[in-house]
Amino acid sequence: MSGAPQYKTLKGMQDILPPDTFLWQSVEQAAHRIFSAFGFQEIRVPVLETTSIFSRSIGEQTDIVEKEMYTFTDKGGRSVSLRPEGTAAVVRSFVEHNLHSLPSPQKFYYSGPMFRYERPQSGRFRQFFQIGVEAFSDPHPRMDAEVISMLGRFLMAIGLEQVSFQINSIGCEQCRPAYKDALLLFFADKKEHLCPDCVRRFDRNPLRILDCKVSRCIEARTGAPRITDHLCQDCRMHFGKLQELLVLLDVSFTVNPEMVRGLDYYTRTTFEVTSKGLGSQNAVAAGGRYNRLVKEFGGPDTPAIGFAVGMERIAELLKRSVSLTWPVPAAFLAALGDTAGNEVLRIADVLRRQNLWVEVGDCHSSLKSQLRRADRLAARFVFILGDEELRSGTLKWKNLADASQGEVKIAELQDFLTGG
Ligand code: HAM
Repeated sequence: MSGAPQYKTLKGMQDILPPDTFLWQSVEQAAHRIFSAFGFQEIRVPVLETTSIFSRSIGEQTDIVEKEMYTFTDKGGRSVSLRPEGTAAVVRSFVEHNLHSLPSPQKFYYSGPMFRYERPQSGRFRQFFQIGVEAFSDPHPRMDAEVISMLGRFLMAIGLEQVSFQINSIGCEQCRPAYKDALLLFFADKKEHLCPDCVRRFDRNPLRILDCKVSRCIEARTGAPRITDHLCQDCRMHFGKLQELLVLLDVSFTVNPEMVRGLDYYTRTTFEVTSKGLGSQNAVAAGGRYNRLVKEFGGPDTPAIGFAVGMERIAELLKRSVSLTWPVPAAFLAALGDTAGNEVLRIADVLRRQNLWVEVGDCHSSLKSQLRRADRLAARFVFILGDEELRSGTLKWKNLADASQGEVKIAELQDFLTGG
């Protein structure tokens, strides 16, 4: 007797099983198709990297680096971390392999698991999958607009239209320090009203107070200075041009000056796509520009922008609108006896070369049990091969959905199944 399973997935991690995997595959295929049309090429980077790659780029004092990384010392005594996101690893790869020598702009996409030791809740996992893109070397807001509109095209292609785009500019090294000072001044006499996290943020990164979801912090920030009022001339022009181009490209968006993002590497444009249907973890995708990171990693001064989509959140939304169906075999070949058993294997092989899903019955089982299996699989057509059919070269078929029956020559089976 089997009781409770001895082993289970770790907290915050999950198996993705069929039929969900079919949905995941179709989302991944759409990403490949659409990103390729925009000239993005696939890059695959390791799951494990040197810890400092993440701590330096995402920021020593961010939640991700302070609390959420899966970090350990490997057998060689190095501190390594499971990647909490893809951008830092792609930038490491860009610099390591001199990818800036490729024709510019260099555009890449990636997909795979990311790891953050967060408190699991609906839509938030410790292992989650992202599909991300990173575009290098183009500083112009045209690239911001292309990347954001590509994200829109992708979401539309997979059938996610009830989402909203929020964009912001968080300025650059020229204008952000003065804005930070303005925020410090604003929050100086409100410090005791802030949550403990925001009290820490006050000293380290006051911009993050704007993003806090705790109600007393939301209250405390009423009337706080807005970054969009503190942008330098260049950042203002960049942000203005981006908005103009998004209108041209038919992307609806709202400007949210409080959207500051939880990673430190951003400069200028940041954006987030949210869905009302997801509760508190409502961001399905997010990204922004990071013009300093390549240089900080020892590469040439190279502007860049990208985003990442959260696969679990997308799958969750899609599952609400599409009913997932299991694919069914095109044919089930039942066989009676050894000779027929060999012949169905040969026929199945021919049909499978045409990418048809074909199942073969166990020629030593009764026809009844073979048909039961065909039924469980809901095969579209069942074919039965015995001595008589071997002699005549003609098979009896049955359509399991409507119970219609007929005969077909073995030589014509492929045309019969493909409608050719
Ligand atoms: P991020 O906002 O940290 O950005 O993550 C992007 C998306 O990944 C989120 O919007 C969400 O859908 C999903 N996500 C994040 N954490 C979790 C989690 N614990 N469980 C489930 N889904 C999650 C980045 O990762 C940046 N690297 C994006 C980027 C690319 N910026 C520039 N290029």
